[in-house]
Amino acid sequence: MSRIVYLNGDYLPEQDARISIFDRGFVMADAVYEVVSVLGGKLIDFAGHQARLKRSLDALEIGNPLPDDDYLAMFRELVTRNEITDGMIYLQVTRGNPGDRDFAYPPADTPQTVVAFTQSKPGLADSPAAAKGWKVVTEPDERWGRRDIKTTQLLYPSMAKMAAKAKGADDAWLVEDGKITEGTSNNAYIVKGNTIITRELSRDILHGITRAAVLRLAREAQMQVEERGFTPEEASEADEAFVTSASAFVMPVVAIDGKQIGNGAPGKIAARLREIYLDEMRKTAI
Ligand code: PDD
Repeated sequence: MSRIVYLNGDYLPEQDARISIFDRGFVMADAVYEVVSVLGGKLIDFAGHQARLKRSLDALEIGNPLPDDDYLAMFRELVTRNEITDGMIYLQVTRGNPGDRDFAYPPADTPQTVVAFTQSKPGLADSPAAAKGWKVVTEPDERWGRRDIKTTQLLYPSMAKMAAKAKGADDAWLVEDGKITEGTSNNAYIVKGNTIITRELSRDILHGITRAAVLRLAREAQMQVEERGFTPEEASEADEAFVTSASAFVMPVVAIDGKQIGNGAPGKIAARLREIYLDEMRKTAI
């Protein structure tokens, strides 16, 4: 069965979905995106992702191409048509096709391009990596200054991911002015005693939807949360570390730059948060 994707109102076999070479998403990375997980055929934290999509569009003055209710209907249609039990939905909105290449934005009434597709990942929440934990290495954060906008400019995160893989690690933690900002595609945390430490929200990091839920659930479970930057040295001396994202949920981190964190095994708090998070998200999935 060929994957059925969404393009500007149509559901098409993936090989029939075509966009213009002049699309601003293609020539300028003038586009925003969201990744929403699917567990048991239902959408995880859909409202949070839809709210952030709007914030990203607003920040770039890209019009919102669809009425609110249409996103949910479209996501559900893709899940049904592609028989997705566990996996992800990727949604991208570009500023559209001005018909030529030009640095100036096209007129505001240029229709946006809307693309969405599914990625099937059976057993996504039972990933063996969660039992083992990730190794990370630090790399300089050389991304642009508006990391709070979820744009498709992902070349530098890809480069950092490749640098990490070349060093035998699973991901890179990006460092700016001596402190970790976040992972290539996730938010970064360390744990000291009963305190969870993660960088505060600003333009320097993506405001993770998983981060918001995990911190809320951690506080509800009487864990201490400190929102502040931390150094790679502090991370290597921490009791535990982990990352969060829509696709990795809560993923333990067991080593940084070749040094083991804690006893080198996934930590208790990370494991507990993963359990609480997945439990709550399955209950509230729509
Ligand atoms: N990435 N920081 C960055 C730079 C990210 O790209 C992501 C998500 C996150 C976590 O955000 P959330 O919890 O809302 O997924 C933090 C997605 C999963 C991706 O690009 O595939």
